[in-house]
Amino acid sequence: MADEQSPNGSNDANGAQEQDSGAASKRGIWGSKAGFILAAAGSAIGLGNIWRFPTEAANNGGAAFLLVYLACVVLIGLPVMLAEITLGRHTRKDPVGAFKAICPRSLWWLVGALGVVTGLAILSYYSVVAGWTLGYVVRTAGHTFTSDSDPNAIFGAFSCCWWQQILYHLIFMALCVAVVMGGVRAGIERWSKILMPTLLVMLGLLVVRSVTLPGAGRGLAFYLEPDFSKLDFKVIVAGLGQAFFSMSLGMGAMITYGSYLSRKDNLVTSATWVGLADTGIAILAGFMVLPALAIAGITPGVDEGGAGMIFTVLPSVFSQMPWEPYGGIVFGTAFFILLALAALTSAVSLLEVVTAYLVDERKWPRKRATAAVGGLALIVGVPSALGCGAVACLSKVVELQGKSVGFLELMDKVFGKLTLTLGALLISLVVGWVWGIGKAKDEIRHGNSGFAVLGSVWSFLLRFLCPLAIATILVFLIIDPGAIR
Ligand code: PFF
Repeated sequence: MADEQSPNGSNDANGAQEQDSGAASKRGIWGSKAGFILAAAGSAIGLGNIWRFPTEAANNGGAAFLLVYLACVVLIGLPVMLAEITLGRHTRKDPVGAFKAICPRSLWWLVGALGVVTGLAILSYYSVVAGWTLGYVVRTAGHTFTSDSDPNAIFGAFSCCWWQQILYHLIFMALCVAVVMGGVRAGIERWSKILMPTLLVMLGLLVVRSVTLPGAGRGLAFYLEPDFSKLDFKVIVAGLGQAFFSMSLGMGAMITYGSYLSRKDNLVTSATWVGLADTGIAILAGFMVLPALAIAGITPGVDEGGAGMIFTVLPSVFSQMPWEPYGGIVFGTAFFILLALAALTSAVSLLEVVTAYLVDERKWPRKRATAAVGGLALIVGVPSALGCGAVACLSKVVELQGKSVGFLELMDKVFGKLTLTLGALLISLVVGWVWGIGKAKDEIRHGNSGFAVLGSVWSFLLRFLCPLAIATILVFLIIDPGAIR
């Protein structure tokens, strides 16, 4: 993406369509189709895959969750992703500007505004968890985890230490701000090419270690042998919410990234690659964490894993790496560095959504906008940083189904699950019905002239299945909010 982000000045999206290169040179564009795929995959692949997916799978029935998740990705996630990217490329605007461009003189821009608020809220607590990965780089490098150490006690002490929680949150947010301020193309686009494959190799090696540890079988069975009696409404809610979070959908991140795409690029293959990469990494992460959980004596699905689950479980895998202690130190440190970097490429996209709004709609200079958003997210994130043990009243904010929920988990439930789902519903309605599926298909045909049969399938999924399925889930959630676990 080019550094300069000034809007093209015109509200006429069709005008922009005709003057592809002119608009592109004014606003900024990805270096190549691969550049977009890597950046969008960088947005999608993050803590959601490695921190959140295994926790959700463990808490929601393992294999039953995996099946529901895959169905949600294919039938709902991919169609919504294609809708977001298409809307972004057509309008070349931030989420608020995009809705204003396709539905002028209406209130639909509020959908974009909901996305901007959600982006800021997710960024605030995402940075706290990403800060933990930085803290764990220091711990694993310093050989804190040996076969005798107690990872629960270590995580407990870390999450109760208020200054470390704030410090790592601050460092991570500063890194995000530095990347977005400096422009994304030279940094993220280039680094993603090296980091994403390395993450894949590391994950692969850890999976091999995890599944071959003595006692791994119970965790694997839980992950792979579906028990359909576990398949209830809560599992579906969890699967859908996780699909939106993991694929960065429902809040305009893909609208914003799509807005920097060229008209020559094939949107269908781009979206498919991003979805495949994201889902593949999440499934692999499940193979890494669930056997380790079982070995750690945690019964998945019975003992509910909280936000710190992977931080208490993975160190026991590292301490059992070959060439003790060096294998564990090298793998553990490298793993947490890569996880921090995967989180960085995702957090950058959250920050980019809010920044693009201020730059495009409010005409703020990019640097000022980035610093302001980063500063605000830092402050909003403080209760999450202190809410995992450091401050008692923030660690137990509400009681849900007899379980007390801390501030960070509450933010994740409201913004990481509920408003993303609402946003995805509204986006599918606006693109499928208000703007019109015909106009969306016309946009997709630039770069993909053969979008006929697939176009009809997409149109059906986006106009009927997505709104009906998502709306049904939202209605049930209003009746029973406790179903969001
Ligand atoms: N998809 C990211 C992850 O899996 O970690 C999180 C995320 C990024 C969610 C961007 C939403 C978003 F817009």
